[in-house]
Amino acid sequence: MSDQKRGMHGIWSGRWTFILAATGSAVGLGNLWKFPYITGENGGGAFVLVYLACIFAAGIPVMLAEVLLGRKTRMSPINAMAKMTEDTGAPKFFHGIGWMGAISGFFILSFYSVIAGWSLAYILKLAGGDFTGSDAAFAGETFGNLVSDPVGLTIWHSVFMLLTGVVIARGVNKGLEAALKILMPVLFVLLLILFGYSLTLSGFGQGLHFLFDFDFSKLTGESFVVALGHAFFTLSLGMGAIMAYGAYMPQEQSLGKTILWVGVLDTLVALVAGMVIFAIVFSNGLEPSAGPGLMFQTLPLAFGSMAGGEFFGTVFFILVAIAAWSSAISIAEPAVAWAVEKGFSRIGATAAVCGFAWLLGLGTVLSFNDWAEYKLFGKTFFDTLDFLTANIMLPLGGLLIAVFVGWFASSELVKKEANIENEAVFNAWRFVVRYISPAAVCVIFLHGLGLFN
Ligand code: PHE
Repeated sequence: MSDQKRGMHGIWSGRWTFILAATGSAVGLGNLWKFPYITGENGGGAFVLVYLACIFAAGIPVMLAEVLLGRKTRMSPINAMAKMTEDTGAPKFFHGIGWMGAISGFFILSFYSVIAGWSLAYILKLAGGDFTGSDAAFAGETFGNLVSDPVGLTIWHSVFMLLTGVVIARGVNKGLEAALKILMPVLFVLLLILFGYSLTLSGFGQGLHFLFDFDFSKLTGESFVVALGHAFFTLSLGMGAIMAYGAYMPQEQSLGKTILWVGVLDTLVALVAGMVIFAIVFSNGLEPSAGPGLMFQTLPLAFGSMAGGEFFGTVFFILVAIAAWSSAISIAEPAVAWAVEKGFSRIGATAAVCGFAWLLGLGTVLSFNDWAEYKLFGKTFFDTLDFLTANIMLPLGGLLIAVFVGWFASSELVKKEANIENEAVFNAWRFVVRYISPAAVCVIFLHGLGLFN
C-alpha cells in the first residue's frame, strides 16, 4: 500500500470542523423522520431510555473505534482496512469491512436521495400553502399522489443527488467543510426556531410526558433490538462514513471528548425533534403511532391547521432537507475517496459514485408505483435495500470494526491513537469495544436475519 495516498484528500481545518462534519453525517433522516416514528410505535419514554443506553454503551464506543482506524491510516475505508489488516496481521477478511461499507454506501445513498427528495417537494407544498385548512384525506392523497408519480419522484431524486454531488466534487476543504460550516449552523438555528415555536403549543407538555415518562410495560423484546439498530444508523456507523471523516481529523485532537460531543449533539437533535413533532401531534389531537407517514402526512396536516403553520411547516421541511444533505455527503465520501486514491479526478469519482447511486435509486422510485407489486420475500425493492443495509450490513460492519479494534489492533497502537488521557475511561472503553459492543451487535444481527422473531 503506497503511503503517498495518506492524507491526499485534505485535513479538517480545526478541532470543531470534525465535530461539525460528523454531526452533519449523524443528524439526518434518521433523527427527524425515523426516531420520532419508531418512538411513537414503541410507546415513548421507556423506548427513549433504552435508545439512550444503546447510544452510550454501544454506539459511541464503536464510533471511537471507527474514527481511530480512519485517522491512523488517513485513507479511504477500503484502503484503510487493507493497510490495518496487513499491519496487524489480522485475518484477510477484515479487509472486507471497507468493501462492504462502500457497497452499503451505494445502497443507502440510492434510497436516501429519493426520500430526501420528498422533503424538497414538501418545502414547495408547504410554502405554497397547499395544506392550509386541509383535512386528513387531503394529506393522505397528496402524499399518495407524490409517490405514485415516477417522473416527479425521479426529478426530486435527481435534484437532491445533484446537490450532494456538487458539494462532494469540490473536495474535503472547499466542498464538504465549506458547505457544512453554513449548513450546520442553519440547521441548529432552524431547529431552535421550531423548538421555540413548539413551546407555545398546547400539546408541548403532553409531548414531554410521552417522550420521557418511563412506562416499561410498553417495551417488548423487539423494542430493544430496534433501539440498538437505530443507535448505529443514526450515528452513521458500520459503513465507513465516520471512518472517512476520521481520516481528515487533525492528529493532535483527542478522540474521546470529540466523539462524545458528536454522540451528544446527535442525541440532542433527535430529542428536540421528538419534542417538536410530538408537541404538534398532541396539539392537534393526532396519533403518535402513525408509523413512517408521521412526517409526510401527519405533520403537514398539523401545520395546515395552526397559526403560522405555512411558515413553520416550510422551515421544518427545509430543516429536513439540510439534515439529509449533510448526511448524504458522508454516505458517498468513502467510495469517492477510494476512487480518487485509484487515480480518478475528484469530479470524475463523484460523477461515477453519484451517477451509479442515482441509477440504483430509480429502483426505489419505481418501488412506490410501477414496481410496487414486485416483491422479494414480501419486500419491495426499497424495503429490501433498507432491510439489507440497516439490519444486516451496518450491524455486521459495526461488529467487525469492534472486533478488529478490540482484539486485533495492539493495545499500544489503540492507546496512542485514541489519545484518551484518563486511564479508567480508556480501560472502560476498551472493555466495551471488546465485549459489550460485539455482543450487542450480534443480537441485532440475529434479529435482522429473523432468528429472534
Ligand atoms: N446517520 C444518518 C441519519 O441519521 C444516516 C447515515 C447512515 C449516514 C449511515 C451515513 C451512514 O440519517
